[in-house]
Amino acid sequence: MSDPEISYFALQAYVGTTKHMGGLETTQELVELCHIGRDSYVLDVGCGVGATACYLVKTHGCRVVGVDASEAMVARSNERAQQEGVTDRVEFRVADVCDLPFDDGRFDAVLVESVLTFVADKQQAIRECVRVTRCPELVEGRPGGYVGLNEQYWIQTPPASVLERVRHTFEIQPGIPMLEGWTGWMENAGLVDVAARPYHFDARRESSQVKRYRFRDMWRMAYRTVWLYMKSPDFRRYMAGRKYRPKDLFDYLGYALFIGRK
Ligand SMILES: C[S@@+](CC[C@H](N)C(=O)[O-])C[C@H]1O[C@@H](n2cnc3c(N)ncnc32)[C@H](O)[C@@H]1O
Repeated sequence: MSDPEISYFALQAYVGTTKHMGGLETTQELVELCHIGRDSYVLDVGCGVGATACYLVKTHGCRVVGVDASEAMVARSNERAQQEGVTDRVEFRVADVCDLPFDDGRFDAVLVESVLTFVADKQQAIRECVRVTRCPELVEGRPGGYVGLNEQYWIQTPPASVLERVRHTFEIQPGIPMLEGWTGWMENAGLVDVAARPYHFDARRESSQVKRYRFRDMWRMAYRTVWLYMKSPDFRRYMAGRKYRPKDLFDYLGYALFIGRK
């Protein structure tokens, strides 16, 4: 494998792990809130290395499509699906959330875990997620499908120093909103019964990140990180630039699960 580009997502694809706030526990909660079951057809937007998509197939037996803007992430996801023996129920494609390559109403549920935080046009991204979600069936009375997000929000307006640090560390586009910003975009996109479950950072909950991965994933992540650190001055500079975290960061930055029905 050739050396990775030194950027936030390229490095994550290289070491083979991605994450979202709250780890596996928040995924389990989203699955419940979106009523995902064996018969569901699910879209996992910004699937990263495919951990959630493969987990859904294995634990719920549903069919899943994962999309990600990064080819390297999709390659990792395909590798994972093969290793976990779930290729019959999951497929991965390169796609941008703002222009999803699917017909209207294709999916029973669309999950988005820590993706839109990084996207400039969040309203357009949410519109696309809603467009590909199943419509309610008036004749048979079946309700519409669900869109479930796990995204970061500002608990209170951050000072410029915190804002700058978050932008720099996570290479986040400007414009993370407060809770009402996210719910407003969801309602504007046509979702009903929109609800938010806000969380503050919690170290115990974060530790459930590890449960999304196998021992071999953790080993590869550690090995590749150390190897890069020894080999690449650019990587060392990159890491040094990300060491500092404002002590009060999580007084400002929270995350929430947002659910809406079509
Ligand atoms: C923080 S990672 C989260 C990955 C995964 N959802 C998880 O929970 O492990 C964000 C992912 O979103 C993808 N992404 C960023 N912008 C995107 C876009 N416009 N469309 C689709 N995926 C995008 C990145 O490539 C990355 O894999």
